[in-house]
Amino acid sequence: MPFLDWYLRCSLATWLLLHSFVLMSLCFQPATTFPKGCYLSQEDGYKTMRCSNAQLTEVPRGIPNDTHRLYLDFNQITYLPSDAFRNLPVLMELDLSHNSLGRLDVASLKGLSDNLHSLDLSSNKLVTISKEIFANLKARTNLSGNPWMCDCELQEVFRLMELDPGSSSGIVCATSVLEEHAGKPFLQVVKEVDLCNVYKKTTDVAMLVTMFGWFAMVISYLVYYVRQNQEDARRHLEYLKSLPSKQRHSEEPSTLSTVV
Ligand SMILES: *[C@@H]1O[C@H](CO)[C@@H](O)[C@H](O)[C@H]1NC(C)=O
Ligand SMILES: *[C@@H]1O[C@H](CO)[C@@H](O)[C@H](O)[C@H]1NC(C)=O
Repeated sequence: MPFLDWYLRCSLATWLLLHSFVLMSLCFQPATTFPKGCYLSQEDGYKTMRCSNAQLTEVPRGIPNDTHRLYLDFNQITYLPSDAFRNLPVLMELDLSHNSLGRLDVASLKGLSDNLHSLDLSSNKLVTISKEIFANLKARTNLSGNPWMCDCELQEVFRLMELDPGSSSGIVCATSVLEEHAGKPFLQVVKEVDLCNVYKKTTDVAMLVTMFGWFAMVISYLVYYVRQNQEDARRHLEYLKSLPSKQRHSEEPSTLSTVV
């Protein structure tokens, strides 16, 4: 039976081949423990980790501590735990653009050093950002394409951080302390108004309006009261005036009678 013989030999060979593949992949595992979807390369002499478009929902573990550039763009990362970048002391570039980050605390970027000179946070879901983050980060930062809430806090952030030139027009107020700023570029808004004073001004105006309202109410009540009383007083006076002539006649006999 030559056919069966051939078939058996063939399947044995296939099985052996498969087996060696499995062994090989097991052997080489330690050298390639990079997170799924990540690729390490040497670019211009810098160790570069690319994890772009890898369907990541969080910052992957096991990024080598001598990584210079880290690309995490086009993923679905929603939040950064406090130790996400703790072991990356020489990181120079961090790209977190096109993710779903909704919040960024001081702790989120803790561990990143002065070496970081480029931080891309564009096209996320950031509404606000803690200004303390930029107290010890010197990185040029791209903040465009986020639904920013334009307020005093954001204005302070811009005072502290170094904005990536060219990304400024993409920073648009989705909402603002003043409604009319919605949809306007942030830098244009802060050129026109000081967002840290707007709040005080609006409360001042509100105060003035309510005070005026009260004042108007009090005045109108006073006017009404005085008028009402004038009317009453006049009626009373008229009544009194009309009285004496009739009363005097009727009163005289009675007083007389009492005297008598
Ligand atoms: C990375 O970690 C190793 C071992 O923990 C350490 O020897 C090395 O100095 C670290 N490299 C950097 C750049 O911190
Ligand atoms: C900032 O990010 C936006 C959106 O991702 C991008 O279009 C723009 O080129 C970036 N700006 C700079 C200066 O890198």
